[in-house]
Amino acid sequence: MESYLVSSIRHSSTIDLLKSSVYCRYLNTLAKLKTKKDFSAQIKILLHKMTLEEKIGQMNQYSGFYDATGPVPEVGNASLKIEHLKKGLVGSMLNVTGVDKIRNLQRMVVEESRLGIPMLFGFDVIHGLKTLSPIPLAEAASWDMEAIEKSARVAADETSASGVNWTFAPMVDISRDARWGRVMEGGGEDPFLGVQIAKARIKGFQGEDLSAHNTIAACAKHLAAYGFVEAGREYNTVDIGTNTLFNIVLPPFKAAVESGVSSVMNAFNILNGVPATGDRFLQRQILKEQWNFSGPVVSDWGSIRELVIHGYAKNLEQAAQQAINAGCDIDMESYGYIKHLVDLVQEGKVSEKLIDDAVTRILRLKFELGLFDDPYRYCNNKREKERLNHKDHHAAVLDIAQKSIVLLKNENNLLPLKKDQDELLIIGDLADDKNSPLGSWRIASDDHTAVSLLEGIHQYIAKYTFEQGPKIFDDSIGFRDEFKMMGSDEEGIAKAVTAAKKAKMILMVMGEHAFQSGEGRSRTSLDLPGDQLKLLKAVYEVNQNIVLVLMNGRPLTIPWAAEHIPSILVAWQLGSQTGNAIAKVLFGDYNPSGKLPMTFPRSIGQVPIYYNHFSTGRPQKIHEVFWSHYIDEENSPLFPFGFGLSYTNFDYSNLKIKVSKTKGVNVLVNVRNCGDRQGEEVVQLYLHDRVASIARPVKELKGFKKINLAPGETQEVEFTLGDAELGFYNHAHEWVVEPGKFDVMVGTNSQKGLTGRFTWV
Ligand code: BGC
Repeated sequence: MESYLVSSIRHSSTIDLLKSSVYCRYLNTLAKLKTKKDFSAQIKILLHKMTLEEKIGQMNQYSGFYDATGPVPEVGNASLKIEHLKKGLVGSMLNVTGVDKIRNLQRMVVEESRLGIPMLFGFDVIHGLKTLSPIPLAEAASWDMEAIEKSARVAADETSASGVNWTFAPMVDISRDARWGRVMEGGGEDPFLGVQIAKARIKGFQGEDLSAHNTIAACAKHLAAYGFVEAGREYNTVDIGTNTLFNIVLPPFKAAVESGVSSVMNAFNILNGVPATGDRFLQRQILKEQWNFSGPVVSDWGSIRELVIHGYAKNLEQAAQQAINAGCDIDMESYGYIKHLVDLVQEGKVSEKLIDDAVTRILRLKFELGLFDDPYRYCNNKREKERLNHKDHHAAVLDIAQKSIVLLKNENNLLPLKKDQDELLIIGDLADDKNSPLGSWRIASDDHTAVSLLEGIHQYIAKYTFEQGPKIFDDSIGFRDEFKMMGSDEEGIAKAVTAAKKAKMILMVMGEHAFQSGEGRSRTSLDLPGDQLKLLKAVYEVNQNIVLVLMNGRPLTIPWAAEHIPSILVAWQLGSQTGNAIAKVLFGDYNPSGKLPMTFPRSIGQVPIYYNHFSTGRPQKIHEVFWSHYIDEENSPLFPFGFGLSYTNFDYSNLKIKVSKTKGVNVLVNVRNCGDRQGEEVVQLYLHDRVASIARPVKELKGFKKINLAPGETQEVEFTLGDAELGFYNHAHEWVVEPGKFDVMVGTNSQKGLTGRFTWV
């Protein structure tokens, strides 16, 4: 078969190539390389044919601004962008979905530009395209890597069917600060869990073969430390030391590279004085040189331009120079590369070698995706029609949604509710909401398509009463607009209280609206927004049989509820199947197994609060005043990392530790389901290196296993610890494993388990 590349070169370049021996050699090489997936020969030939301007065009990325069936400019200079497309000066686009649109844009480039190099189409598929999975923070609560991989697979299947070949996900930023709105988009506070999730999601997106029509390129973002923005304020500065950078922030990126992630996105924030987009140390030294990453680094939206605003470059030209020299290969919507790189190369300020390296990375990805064989590989109308919202996808996201729910409290065993319940009072605006449960970051989805909680419950019981209570969000202003707080609603509260007086059982549904988290949605309070706490207290006054379901995009501060309300479920924003998933848990068809991937604080003043902190010099009360504490709050969290209950109970016993210099440390524990219902438990192993060349955290997650036990069943769970678990990065950025004493804890959350110790020699 003649490759598309060949035909495009023939079509668009001059006859001399056809006559040249290069062409013949190319054909031979192509045939040989077909199975090896080493595209360097093809890339070399292509690079040789490209003008400097065309090379830089590959590094230029534009946002969709254009309805491909007729130009409808929305932002920017649309006609200039079209001109650039036709001249082959755009290597990739973002924010375009749909087979027809993508085919038309691709055709414009392939048929009208001189070399006809196909474009990449990137899109933020953060938790699904049409069929939505839970928000990533919720998925992290499942601790179920198989289900997470499957969820990313669903997203890849739909995304590829809609013409897109590249997702800007997974976001692998670790964060300890729930004020930051983007915690909803990540895997929580812990690097070990974050590493596993990064791997699972990349595998789900990219599959075994990137050139398959149903897989897409992934992008690990945001390099680096965006999750550590000061005070949790969006786009703010980050100032962290070597220990946090190497031991907490970078591991998921490194794991992503080792898993073959196709691309990496840099970040908006300044890190230790240098904006990440202009940071040579991060992008060239660590990512490309030390980790051998061979894919492209894409800037974040306009982040090259923002180097000027940061005070790191005097103008866009210098910003472009700094970004390319630092290792940023693709300019997303800054126009810095397209405007200035040619001159910068000609003036000798940027080496053409760097341009060739960047273009090589971009072309390689296009080859890997199979775009040179068929630039319309992802443009199949039939597939688009069949795959979007496929029923199998809904089954997969229902599975992960139920697994993401965390049971925080179940006093008096109010839960599960009885299926023959003859009445139920449901209170709360969010119970009837089909939009908010879809979550933030869902730009291609259809509004109001989630199964609401009321709809889910309706499948179990016919008789229930619903009281909306105060509205928490004004949906009429358009869901993507700024969040608008609703005023107080005494009448709504009074109606709910009247209904509560007569009710046998009350389900209260509260939390945040989806668009109170996500990008640009930092908060200074983690309390239930609006009048919700007032409503909860007023209802509790008259009736205490309350099950509280929280829908939230981040950890919330709920100390009053935690003390008074007998049963609490954290249901996050669970995507398309929200109502079905919560109802299954409420009525006991799924026994909750989720565990918190982020600490729930008692109060906002404790933030950042995380389990893997260091010991202060005065951790215990050794004096009335002079020890590490607050005078107005406890140190401990409200609910710790890894916490989550089940409708059954698990008993841990018989912790055994065997140390072998050759085989590593073997840790065994027996876990027994001592309740009367089948259940899943996430068995967690934490380590503490007692004395080291740099102080180590009081504990660190180093292993977990999710097991499924029948009533009365016992399972021996085994962990093996080797260099990867025992070591750490020291201040010289070196991975070291130091001999000495270690404490081990194996248990049900980061604060409860069996403890033991061993010596590593
Ligand atoms: C976000 C990125 C995203 C990009 C493109 C930026 O605002 O920070 O995560 O991929 O926009 O939509």
